[in-house]
Amino acid sequence: MSPSTAGITSLDLADPKTFVHNDPHAFWAELRDRDPVFWHQGDENRPGFWVVSRYADVVACYTDAARLSSARGTVLDVLLRGDDSAGGRMLAVTDRPRHRSLRNVMLRAFSPRVLGDVTEQVERRTRELIKQVTQTGTFDFATEVAEHIPMGTICDLLSIPPADRPDLLGWNKKALSSDEADADPYAALEARNEILLYFTDLAAQRRARPGDDVVSMITTATVDGEQLSVEDVALNCYSLIIGGDESSRVSAICAVKAFADFPGQWRAVRDGDVGIDTAVEEVLRWATPALHFARTATADLELGGRRVRAGDIVSLWNISANFDERQFDTPLEFRVARDPNRHVSFGHGPHFCLGAHLGRAELRALLTALVDTVSDIELAGPPQRIYSNFLNGHSSLPVTFTGR
Ligand code: HEM
Repeated sequence: MSPSTAGITSLDLADPKTFVHNDPHAFWAELRDRDPVFWHQGDENRPGFWVVSRYADVVACYTDAARLSSARGTVLDVLLRGDDSAGGRMLAVTDRPRHRSLRNVMLRAFSPRVLGDVTEQVERRTRELIKQVTQTGTFDFATEVAEHIPMGTICDLLSIPPADRPDLLGWNKKALSSDEADADPYAALEARNEILLYFTDLAAQRRARPGDDVVSMITTATVDGEQLSVEDVALNCYSLIIGGDESSRVSAICAVKAFADFPGQWRAVRDGDVGIDTAVEEVLRWATPALHFARTATADLELGGRRVRAGDIVSLWNISANFDERQFDTPLEFRVARDPNRHVSFGHGPHFCLGAHLGRAELRALLTALVDTVSDIELAGPPQRIYSNFLNGHSSLPVTFTGR
């Protein structure tokens, strides 16, 4: 669809359907040109919100944590309905100065020693999975590969006992209501509570008998002179799943889809013409797993010539920033050799993704396993888009891998 000015104002960015049924790039290019800081009307049921679409403005907003708060929530779905109940307790929805102390504690989960072990495990797991599916030939990459890697990685990171993992994986699957339009919100809520209860028990056990693992490190650390409550430890452990599971999953799916869509770019990676790390960055830009993040203004401010009032919701559209022709040459081309490539897929500023290193390591492991094992990648059926105004990508990707 190619929207006119009327098209811009008539698209509802709070509605997941918008992202299933429209060509987003034409819409965003027009918005960046005509109305880069756009007021999206509300209605009787929900407030209006600002839509920031240019790369430079999005980066400026991510940086301005002093006037753009995360504490009421950071996704439109939550902000348009009320406040995030984890505000001030879970890292992503906490403001300075507490955010900084809490982030320092959470960073312990990502020490070089822990990351080294987890990266090794993710490389091994990915290699085995890719070998297996390549022998099968035709399969759904989303369900048979991508679904298994991130949760395994996060469980490794938190040293979840192997016997507990099937339960956690099962609850997490139910908790993710975003994949389908008709998902049951109550079952999802119940599953989220199960996960929180599980982590609360685990935190209590490890507080009583701390070991050498990440959950023990978080439970015994102090934030502003006090230990976190076991409930807050649980919330922040769960936040690693919230932050790291779906985002990594959709970027892996996007990598394989992009290689199937652009075989020349796949050959460039496969034949070693382009380094894996460079290609990983282009996959991240192309995937833009989080369509947007959002903030609430705590003071009046000027943004792109528009007057934002204290209390206004400001949404920052990564999906537009990552394809802004003011920042990227030929942004609508998937070019694995793109360099520099300063995408905002991991955000920017004080809330920059805590798991970026791990997200990159997972993609690096995937591309390496593909290069070692696979000669050709082809689509074997229509991919299915995710039903969400936050998570970008596909929940099903039938493909055929031909072995090397
Ligand atoms: C924050 C994206 C992987 C944990 C963020 C933010 C983005 C993002 C855009 C900034 C949110 C904001 O500014 O409000 C991604 C993408 C990933 C990924 C695209 C994979 C490709 C991970 C992984 C983990 C993780 C693997 C953990 C295991 C977090 C946490 C935060 C965060 C805890 C909050 C940081 C803070 O508020 O200080 N992520 N993420 N992410 N991410 Fe990731």
